[in-house]
Amino acid sequence: KKERTLAMVKPDAVYKLGDVLQMVYDSNLIVTKAKMTKLTWREASDFYTEHQTKSFFNNLVQFMTSGPVVAMELLGDEAISEWRRILGPTDSSIARKEAALSLRAQFGTDGTKNAGHGSDSLASAARELEFFFPSTAGRGPANTA
Ligand code: CMP
Repeated sequence: KKERTLAMVKPDAVYKLGDVLQMVYDSNLIVTKAKMTKLTWREASDFYTEHQTKSFFNNLVQFMTSGPVVAMELLGDEAISEWRRILGPTDSSIARKEAALSLRAQFGTDGTKNAGHGSDSLASAARELEFFFPSTAGRGPANTA
C-alpha cells in the first residue's frame, strides 16, 4: 500500500546528507518534498509534544535545536515501516549491534543523538507532514491568508 511518511535528518547527521539520500535511492522510496530548517525551541517542543513529560524531553529539544535539520516527505510502498527499517533501532548503540548497517548505526551516537526520525503511524505521518509542509489548500489563489 502506497504511503507517505515524514523523514527527518537530525542535526548530527546533516553533514552526511549525501549518504542518507543514497540510502533513500537504494530503497523503494522516493523523495517528494524536502526542506532544511533550523527549528526553534518552540517548534521542536511542538513536534515532540507527545514526549513532553519524558525525562529526556529537554535533552531532546536541546539537541534538535542545536543545528539545522532536513525534513523530507518520502513516498512508496509501506513507506512508514520501510523508512523506520532503514533508520534502525532508536538507540544508535543498539543499532550498531545489529547485522544491518542502518542509518542510526552509521551516523548516530546514542539514544538521543540518533541521526534521524521517522513517523511511527499513519496518524503521526499526517501530523508531522503537515508540521513541516503545511497544506495551503483553501487559503486562496494568492496564498497570502
Ligand atoms: P525519534 O524517532 O525522533 O522519536 C523521539 C526521540 O526521542 C527519539 O527519536 C530519540 O531521539 C529520543 N529518545 C527516545 N527515547 C529516548 C531515551 N530513552 N533517552 C533519550 N532520548 C530518547
